[in-house]
Amino acid sequence: TVPPAFTVRMPTLPVLAPISQLGGQDTYALTLKEVSREIIPGVQTKVLTYDGQFPGPVLRARSGRKVVIRHRNTLTMPVSVHLHGGNVSPENDGGPMDTFGPGTSRTYTYPNQQLAAGLWFHDHAHHMESEHVYRGLSATYLLSDDTERSLPLPAGQYEVPIALRDAHFDESGQLVYVMDDVFGRTTILANGRPSPYFEVAARKYRFRLLNSSNMRFFQLRLSDGGQMIQIGSDGGLLERPFTTDTVGLSPAERADVVIDFSRYPVGTRIVLENTLGPGTPDQVGKVLRFDVVRTAPDPSRVPDVLRTLPALRRATVQRSIVLSMDEDGRQEPRGFMDGQVWDPQRIDQTVAHGTSEIWTVTNTNKVVPHNFHMHLVQFRVLERNGAPAGPAEAGLKDTVRLFPGESVKLHATFDTYKGTYVYHCHLLDHSAMGMMANFRIR
Ligand code: C2O
Ligand code: CU
Repeated sequence: TVPPAFTVRMPTLPVLAPISQLGGQDTYALTLKEVSREIIPGVQTKVLTYDGQFPGPVLRARSGRKVVIRHRNTLTMPVSVHLHGGNVSPENDGGPMDTFGPGTSRTYTYPNQQLAAGLWFHDHAHHMESEHVYRGLSATYLLSDDTERSLPLPAGQYEVPIALRDAHFDESGQLVYVMDDVFGRTTILANGRPSPYFEVAARKYRFRLLNSSNMRFFQLRLSDGGQMIQIGSDGGLLERPFTTDTVGLSPAERADVVIDFSRYPVGTRIVLENTLGPGTPDQVGKVLRFDVVRTAPDPSRVPDVLRTLPALRRATVQRSIVLSMDEDGRQEPRGFMDGQVWDPQRIDQTVAHGTSEIWTVTNTNKVVPHNFHMHLVQFRVLERNGAPAGPAEAGLKDTVRLFPGESVKLHATFDTYKGTYVYHCHLLDHSAMGMMANFRIR
């Protein structure tokens, strides 16, 4: 049922309009609902949505201006909405047990007291987050600030959020929630359409990439080996842009990337490829095709300096965290943080408010990749496998990949809210299996 690659146009994601901008805040009202949407041409696929959009819409927020979202749950199961990468109070964090049931509403308040960043929100109801996100409960939240707005980066129609993920369809075109691609029918979706094409002008574009997959890692490149300019990551702009021919994204990671199509004559078609499995290059290698169809003036520029990141404060505590899961092929593998399955009641780490810490996080598995995400904070990656982190990890991060045997050294400062939050593997089937722990700031 899935059409040949590059036969469907990639839509841009709709931007949400607030229902009110009174009282110095932007208020939104969203309905969580099941709807049918066209993913495969001519087929209606059932999806779970924020306000009927698949994938979720874009919410544009500004640093220093509060956003309040009222979510009405018309689904048949409890949900929890987590603003991934957001610095929010525990009551507004949308933790795994803090769910709201069918027929009820919940209001989340986001103060946006943080630097510009490409955030996203998604379901976090424990044991269900994986399937809920897979079926559509994820949306983009772009937080901007004055520094970012003062830069001459591509903007307006030339700044394009793209949510990438994989999906498996059955014969009737319905989403199948499976952990492994037993049917060999994995498809890559870009903004909700299978391996689409996107028409561009021969000028610079800024792409806000999000990997909203459950389990899939992407390693992206252009089919001609052409250069991209990475300007940002999870926590927003880097201090300095860098050119690269590849961009890696584990689940939940974001990359802010500028591609200059002015080097291509009109009529050129360039494929954004994924070089990582599982899956054959035919199924998972063709992410999206850029068709250069016209010329356009281009006043945009990527400055040499994008912003200054907060200085690293002296860390007073060091911790070691180990991620692992059963690899012995058992029916129901368990996921562990430091050898323990998540217990919502147990406090695994206690952090003193106002301090900075260094966490050394290691994946001790032999074959299974993981990644590591902390709620509340944007951290810095000091080292990867004992060496200084590369340029893509030099900015603020909230999720880091951990291939088997890898280890990262992270620096985080806990000087905002007090309370209990989680950290977990963001391969959502793994967090559902218990690869999650609680930290408490007091
Ligand atoms: Cu993206 Cu605990 O979340
Ligand atoms: Cu994992």
